[in-house]
Amino acid sequence: MKVYVTRRIPEVGLKLLEEAGFELKVSEKDGVLSKEELLAELRSFQPEALLCLLTDTIDAEVFDAAPIKICATYSVGFNHIDLKAAKERGIVVTHTPGVLTDAVAEFTSAAIFSLAKRIVEADKFTRAGKYKGWEPTLLLGMELKGKVLGVLGAGRIGTRVAQIMHAMGLKVLYYDIAHNETLDKMGAQMEDKDTLLKRADIVTVHVPLLDSTRHFLSEKEFQMMKDSALLINTSRGPVIDEQALVQALTTGQIAGAFLDVFENEPEINPALKEMDNVILTPHIASATRETRDKMSEMAGQSIVDFANGKTPEHVVSLD
Ligand code: GLV
Repeated sequence: MKVYVTRRIPEVGLKLLEEAGFELKVSEKDGVLSKEELLAELRSFQPEALLCLLTDTIDAEVFDAAPIKICATYSVGFNHIDLKAAKERGIVVTHTPGVLTDAVAEFTSAAIFSLAKRIVEADKFTRAGKYKGWEPTLLLGMELKGKVLGVLGAGRIGTRVAQIMHAMGLKVLYYDIAHNETLDKMGAQMEDKDTLLKRADIVTVHVPLLDSTRHFLSEKEFQMMKDSALLINTSRGPVIDEQALVQALTTGQIAGAFLDVFENEPEINPALKEMDNVILTPHIASATRETRDKMSEMAGQSIVDFANGKTPEHVVSLD
């Protein structure tokens, strides 16, 4: 079987594919392939398996460029893949859930802490030589114990963030389409979206990007939030209406934001870069050595399983 990999990923998954005896081609470009480059690669190599990244747009044209039977994405999110086109062609799509839950939840917790404690702002202040001695009210932040955390999307990652923050003494509210037993047992409260937004001191977003969650937070939602509220997004950029967020931060409708993902990655609304109450990171929430190795292994294993006639463990449901 021929396997095409759109960008070099940690070796472990590639090794699995090589050891399985597959003919492997890894893109030599140290960057995201343009659509034309990807199509040209697929048309010339003609792989049956495609290992892609979240930065690739995988649509009908891509699927039709080679006799692809399986598309394994090195990511938990799969909004970059046209699942309908895959289903129509009988192509199996797999992703990498579970292995990045802790990495993303830990990062999100760090985001909450760094925003509430103004760590990045304080670092910039200190480096700029502005520290002239201890002051009683210098860079005051938010105490977390006793505050209300609103978790939008109580899947694996949202649940883990809720557990960590609960242990820190925060009260947890969550919104999801179904009850989450783990969170219910922990004493978290399920709420409708509006109530959660009105009550939360910190809102953290963990919904996947779907048609129904595009601009899940926009002008109307920001108006409901407390003017002291902090917003964290480590899911997908388009879940938040970035222009409306800029407006909400500019007018003081909310107090601050930590964004690891952006509406038009890698572009970032220039206004966000000017704001001291905003922390920006380059989509690295899952970026630990351990997790990226496991993601590589899982993506590789999915292809190996498929080639051996087994159903891979993490097939994306096409319904
Ligand atoms: C990261 O954003 C992922 O979907 O794996």
